[in-house]
Amino acid sequence: MTLFRLLAALVFAFITVPAAAQTIAQAAPTTQAVATASSPSGTIKVDVLLNPEGRVGYAVSREGKPVIAESRLGFLFTDAPQMLRNFVLAGQSARSFDETWEQPWGEYRSIRNRYNELTVNFDEKSWDKRRMTVVFRVYDDGVGFRYEIPKNAKLARANIADELTEFNVAEGGDAWWNEAYEWNREEYGIRHTPLDEVGTAQTPLTVRTASGLHLSFHEAALVDYSAMNLRRVHDNLLKATLTPSAAGPKVVRDTPVATPWRVIMIAPDASSLYRSAQIILNLNEPNKLGDVSWVKPMKYVGIWWDMHLDRKTWNSGPKHGATTAYTKQMIDFAAKNGFKGVLVEGWNKGWDGEWFGNGWDFSFTEAYPDFDIAEVTRYARSKGVYLIGHHETGGNIAVYERQLGPALDLYQRLGVPAVKTGYVADAGNVQAEGPDGKIRFEWHEGQTAVNHHLKVVTEAAKRHIAVNPHEPVKDTGLRRTYPNWVAREGQRGMEYNAWGEPKNPPEHEANLVFTRMMAGPMDFTPGVLSLTGKNNTPILSTLAKQLALYVVIYSPIQMAPDLIENYEANPKTFKFIKDVAVDWDDSRLLAGEVGDLAVFARKQRGSDQWFLGAVGDEQERRFDVSLDFLPAGKRYRAEIYRDGEDADYRTNPRSIVIEQRNVTSADRLAMRLAPGGGAAIRFVPIR
Ligand code: NOJ
Repeated sequence: MTLFRLLAALVFAFITVPAAAQTIAQAAPTTQAVATASSPSGTIKVDVLLNPEGRVGYAVSREGKPVIAESRLGFLFTDAPQMLRNFVLAGQSARSFDETWEQPWGEYRSIRNRYNELTVNFDEKSWDKRRMTVVFRVYDDGVGFRYEIPKNAKLARANIADELTEFNVAEGGDAWWNEAYEWNREEYGIRHTPLDEVGTAQTPLTVRTASGLHLSFHEAALVDYSAMNLRRVHDNLLKATLTPSAAGPKVVRDTPVATPWRVIMIAPDASSLYRSAQIILNLNEPNKLGDVSWVKPMKYVGIWWDMHLDRKTWNSGPKHGATTAYTKQMIDFAAKNGFKGVLVEGWNKGWDGEWFGNGWDFSFTEAYPDFDIAEVTRYARSKGVYLIGHHETGGNIAVYERQLGPALDLYQRLGVPAVKTGYVADAGNVQAEGPDGKIRFEWHEGQTAVNHHLKVVTEAAKRHIAVNPHEPVKDTGLRRTYPNWVAREGQRGMEYNAWGEPKNPPEHEANLVFTRMMAGPMDFTPGVLSLTGKNNTPILSTLAKQLALYVVIYSPIQMAPDLIENYEANPKTFKFIKDVAVDWDDSRLLAGEVGDLAVFARKQRGSDQWFLGAVGDEQERRFDVSLDFLPAGKRYRAEIYRDGEDADYRTNPRSIVIEQRNVTSADRLAMRLAPGGGAAIRFVPIR
């Protein structure tokens, strides 16, 4: 070393060493990002955080801007210390995944599942040294993460009191949400409040931040666990609260445990948010049922609206709806108009007493004497139509599970391809048998009910029967794994327009598209052309909107619920319901704003036909739509069903214009949606 270098080194040491020592002495320890993952194109980034207390957290950003600020992760147990602090990083690994898979039925034929995955292991420093693993999947339009608790001698059984998962939304804005833990389950209609006024919400919960980002919080693959709700703690901080269980702990599982995926869908606008819901399917496991060509998307009619109007009854007596004669009439109507299914409610014994929230009297194998189920199914088959089964349980899982095998065997024998199930009971009043054989009162979305639904779906699958639960557990994308789980209710459907007080408001469906529909298909039962409910009370919709709903509210099974006489009295509008498809190659939300507007174009599966459906809210709306979704160079006949110029849901709901125009992808269509209105279009290729 030259003298000069030695001097220089001494001077450097003199200046820097004391400064460095000072930093160590003074700086407070801070939260560290111990692992990081970005989405395939780099749009979304997740930082996994460890704070000085050894608390695990995460944060999410999009294009460099925070979306979720530092949020905690962890668990509370009923019989073990919480998992929250004293963690050290024990390892991490990453991988990339890119696959395109095909839906047997759905709103898209193929779906790309492309993400970067980051797995981070944390071990507790304390005596029990338990491990908590968090797996993140980072998509270009969202993030999913799940916990894994490995098999652990100190935690052989995880009695989970609650999750400590947080979603600390970085920016305030508007929220659209549904109350959790209220008696009427999911059937409240959607609330719209500032994000910092959310109470306790079910998921999906939708947020539009002040800067216009659209977020949807939900979960995927809810299996053997209880559903997640979100409670606002303060400001814009949401925290998971799991649905309670009569057992005490909200979840009881032997380790190893993998939780459902906690999902944040992140999109620049409302229209792209809808497509981000593919993340929910992608986070579910692939089809476990093999060939499911027996699951048939279809439109159906039935003995149903009659009861909601009080014209007929589910129970026996002079107004009994489910008679052999009336069912045959319905079968004839279905066959004549191209409907494949006929739903019959109230066919089985047990409706005569107090069935609501009770269900002890239901038999799922014995028909009322005026309903000859063998004859009805024989007659249906001779007409190329299927009976759709119905199992209302009154929320009594105990009675239903005891009869489940024979009940489904009967349907299998009779060639019934689908069953609508029902769980009409107040929240927290689902009756189920506990391990001691005693009846316990459970929640519709607790672990017991979650397991019950999957049991029904898998038992039905063995018999090639599709399932459509009402008053269900929420949809978390399990239709990918069990494609016979075709639809469900899970919000206010059309029935509220029969007897609801209040009825569904004009903005209801424009809300549903961005909230309930982020979860999956809904058996909404659109298409009431009489536009009236019970006692002739008006439905808050125009005629054109009733048609549009078949395109807007996705389900592979769609009902035409109105009375035969009402369809026969409106043959021109009924034609659209007969023509509209239920299974799609592609779906595009062309324009949308949460609660205001949704304009969909969907391409029929295996056909060149396209359909367009638009719904608005109580405001009149004028806009034009580019038809560039149509293939270039092809000519189409557009069969248009639109609100008349004077249509208005309050004063002139039946005003409709039905017209045809030849169009190509180069055209734009000017549209007017009346207050409470809509538009429906069928595009038929001109050969
Ligand atoms: C409520 C369901 O939503 C409805 O569709 C059904 O008719 C009744 N329960 C009776 O099962």
